[in-house]
Amino acid sequence: MWDPTVYRRFGAERSRPFADLLARVGAETPRAVVDLGCGPGELTADLARRWPGARVTGLDSSPEMITKAAALGARADFRVADVRAWRPGPDDDVVISNAVLQWVPGHQDLLRRWVRELPAGAWLAIQVPGNFDAPSHRALRELAATGPWAGRIGDLLREAPVDDAPGYAQVLTAAGATVDAWETTYVHLLPAEPAAEHPVLRWMEGTALRPVRAALDDPAWQEFRAALGDRLAAAYPARDGLVTFPFRRIFVVATTPKETAP
Ligand SMILES: C[S@@+](CC[C@H](N)C(=O)[O-])C[C@H]1O[C@@H](n2cnc3c(N)ncnc32)[C@H](O)[C@@H]1O
Repeated sequence: MWDPTVYRRFGAERSRPFADLLARVGAETPRAVVDLGCGPGELTADLARRWPGARVTGLDSSPEMITKAAALGARADFRVADVRAWRPGPDDDVVISNAVLQWVPGHQDLLRRWVRELPAGAWLAIQVPGNFDAPSHRALRELAATGPWAGRIGDLLREAPVDDAPGYAQVLTAAGATVDAWETTYVHLLPAEPAAEHPVLRWMEGTALRPVRAALDDPAWQEFRAALGDRLAAAYPARDGLVTFPFRRIFVVATTPKETAP
């Protein structure tokens, strides 16, 4: 289950890649814009503001996220749906999926299909985290594989479920799209209060730790959290009241071929 409140911690840091992704989408007057895995909807509302003439739809598999999004009152239609079942419509000139496809194994097949089925001259823009080898995720996997945790959550944690930027470029170019792919490492400087929990632990609770939380009862979860917090404090020490948290992200913007004049 996704918790929109926990996910919105560090909202400014999380929205920056979305803005950087959108900056490379050149659509001027799209007929319809779809946000796949829209989460709590604030970023979908940005899409509606950017393209006031477009029909904007936000889809997400989490009913909690869609309830939050619908309550925004944004000029967008929000619906519970799984991106794996989504098919592009004939007016879907812009499709965005920000920080979602890392949760969808085999999403490269979806990307191929979407590129084939999108209308001519459409834009498909995705961003996924590329931090699965970062100390945060290594600490999580190592802890999950040790002692009492191994049998309970060891299988839940995935090795890098995403490609790198050249990998996505290859997949989408082979499917016939024109591709703009890149990666960026953001250096987040997270405030660290002396008596508070480690900020990287608080960050991970909103996303990567969700499957672990769901698999453990309360006492086990508190124990796991504390042990992970210790490892994160060693991997990301606070200096001058700040924790430096580098975060690599992978971006791909693909356009489908324009219709050629007969
Ligand atoms: C990290 S959040 C990103 C939310 C939003 N795109 C943003 O940038 O703030 C990931 C979202 O993907 C959604 N999600 C994960 N798997 C999905 C699937 N198969 N179909 C639809 N949504 C999915 C989750 O429910 C969650 O809201």
